[in-house]
Amino acid sequence: MDVLVVEHPLARARLSTMRDARTDSAAFRAALQELTVMLTYEATRDAPLTTERMHTPVARTDAYRLADPPLLVPVLRAGLGMADQAHKLIPDAQMGFVGLARDERTLEPTPYLESLPASLEGRPVFVLDPMLATGGSMEYTIRLLTERGATDVTAVCALAAPEGLRRLEETGLPVRVVTASVDERLNDSGFIVPGLGDAGDRQYGAV
Ligand code: PRP
Repeated sequence: MDVLVVEHPLARARLSTMRDARTDSAAFRAALQELTVMLTYEATRDAPLTTERMHTPVARTDAYRLADPPLLVPVLRAGLGMADQAHKLIPDAQMGFVGLARDERTLEPTPYLESLPASLEGRPVFVLDPMLATGGSMEYTIRLLTERGATDVTAVCALAAPEGLRRLEETGLPVRVVTASVDERLNDSGFIVPGLGDAGDRQYGAV
């Protein structure tokens, strides 16, 4: 499984803002939005282009567009904070939605929303979720996508735990991961260490 760790200095700085316990909700959301731009930029680095001819005011030249804009799938709640910025960067993209809440005791994801196109055959998909912890939420989401025929899935995450990456790898699902950090480990409560706490709560408040 390909894992791309985006270690650009600006990405590291935004992630540090998100990690800092003193960062308030508004500043956390802003840092996540800015980091999402960088992660999406790197996630599309090798995206194929179509070419046609066009005129500048001076001469004829080539015009480029993404050949296959990905379906963007934020995983609610926390992934909602990445959706707008990814969409601004890829305005041609369509968006699907998956809602999952992780049971605090079992750490298993409980689904409450699924809004996806019926067929994803031949379509790249970007799943947006700030955190990959045990990997349960991401595995659940990718299975929803592959059941619809997706074979090219990118998980775009602010940070990931080694345990979650191992779990995804072991599933053999067709996914690559783009993240700003692979952290040390999970603690007994299933939180990433050092991590940033709970990305949903830090953006929107505890529920
Ligand atoms: C968090 C996070 C991921 C998931 C990661 O969401 O945004 O979706 O947990 O954990 P996992 O890899 O162990 O499955 P949470 O369930 O807390 O919901 P929220 O986004 O509504 O806060």
